[in-house]
Amino acid sequence: MNSIECKNISKSFIINNEILDVFSNINFKINESQKIAISGRSGAGKSTFLHIMAGLDKPTAGVVEFNEYNFSNIPLSKLSEIRLKNFGFVYQFHHLLDDLTIAENISIPAELNNNFTKNKKDQIVSLMKNLNIYDRKDHLPWKLSGGEKQRVAIARALTNQPKFLFLDEPTGNLDEENASVIQDILINISNDFGVALITATHDNKFIKAFDSIYDLSDSKLNKIK
Ligand SMILES: Nc1ncnc2c1ncn2[C@@H]1O[C@H](COP(=O)(O)OP(=O)(O)OP(=O)(O)O)[C@@H](O)[C@H]1O
Ligand SMILES: [Mg+2]
Repeated sequence: MNSIECKNISKSFIINNEILDVFSNINFKINESQKIAISGRSGAGKSTFLHIMAGLDKPTAGVVEFNEYNFSNIPLSKLSEIRLKNFGFVYQFHHLLDDLTIAENISIPAELNNNFTKNKKDQIVSLMKNLNIYDRKDHLPWKLSGGEKQRVAIARALTNQPKFLFLDEPTGNLDEENASVIQDILINISNDFGVALITATHDNKFIKAFDSIYDLSDSKLNKIK
């Protein structure tokens, strides 16, 4: 069973010669197909925690492991390969590439993975259809609404069929109707394909759909469900 484990991780930033301790000594593990939500006030460190768990940033102390791999001890090339093949990340602010069409944005992970085959192209078409963005495939991102951009970001994170999907406030900037559509899509993907969800969210309605809920506050991660 695939898992990601954080062992005693701490993160500090140095800002203007002062140390900002975001969190300290967090222990956390997530297995394939689990759905975990992380709540906490703005600035508590949710994005930082997700980035570290996904190998996009490093902890100041402690280690993050994916199966037998310790992120601190492996070459960057191996870490990139692990991320590309196993993780999908939906950023808090989409990060779509402005000069590429929707279909091209969604294809990037497959191209990086040297897997832009006919099969993969067909699968990307199904993904776009399922997320209801297929009719926008040749448009540039700026033409899309917030909800559509978010669905594109989710599609891109799913291109390589990850086992772990990180979602940083996936419904934070959406109205209630769009938020509800996205929430249903994510829960169905997890249930249907056994994809683990690690989701930072403030949304109380969404949070109820998760197996476990954690609260990040005062530098600690507390399990509340
Ligand atoms: N690269 C960085 N350099 C310096 N400080 C940072 C950096 N990234 C984050 N921080 C600080 O770390 C703290 C945690 O930030 P983070 O973005 O993880 O919070 P968050 O819980 O995701 O907040 P929000 O709910 O607003 O998205 C904040 O005080 C932030 O200013
Ligand atoms: Mg954040």
